[in-house]
Amino acid sequence: MSLRREDARLAGQRIVISAGPTFEDIDPVRFIGNRSSGKMGFAIAAAAARRAADVVLVAGPVTLPTPMGLRRVDVRSAAQMHAAVLAELPADVYVGAAAVADFTPQRVAPSKIKKQAGVDTLTLELVRTTDILADVAAHAQRPRLVVGFAAETDHVEQYARGKLEKKKLDLIAANRVGIAGSGFESDDNALMVYWRDGERALGPAPKTQLADALLDLIAERLHA
Ligand code: C5P
Repeated sequence: MSLRREDARLAGQRIVISAGPTFEDIDPVRFIGNRSSGKMGFAIAAAAARRAADVVLVAGPVTLPTPMGLRRVDVRSAAQMHAAVLAELPADVYVGAAAVADFTPQRVAPSKIKKQAGVDTLTLELVRTTDILADVAAHAQRPRLVVGFAAETDHVEQYARGKLEKKKLDLIAANRVGIAGSGFESDDNALMVYWRDGERALGPAPKTQLADALLDLIAERLHA
């Protein structure tokens, strides 16, 4: 297999990618989750493996097949994803494409929570999860390039740039909403990528093509 010259820039680079949702258990049969399909993160991982990068894909609960040429680590909760990602450092690049739950139940009920006669409400106490992306960016073994995602509905640039700064990222890819077919469960997407002194619009395009465009940008910034 031969690579385009620009593709070869990621050969041998260690790239850790998180993808998919996390499920936060409430009791043995119920959980809090979200609609992330994992397609974008899996597409980035597959494209990076095609460029001969050394890829680790940390996957939340998804129904996607494992792309060729990479190592996959399956996790369920935000806490498990946090531990699995940090265990893979050091790395050259981290791409946080997972839709990590922001809150998790304070305690998991050991047995199924039952309805009670005459009681019409149930209160769940939730606590914040640890920010994996911010922890990777602040880590002693910080990857040379830390890339985050942002799902924003409005003030996209303002919120995305706020996250870039606050989480100390090198790149942030914001989903461009309001574009037909873009979003969580779709096969297509459009991204607006920001870094400290630049920006680039990618797509709209199938997630597989968008993954390659994002990797081109990652390779560029890695060698900037
Ligand atoms: O702050 P917000 O959740 O919008 O930021 C989204 C980015 O942060 C995504 O890249 C997501 O993977 C990451 N994130 C994380 N750990 C969390 C929450 C979000 O790594 N607990």
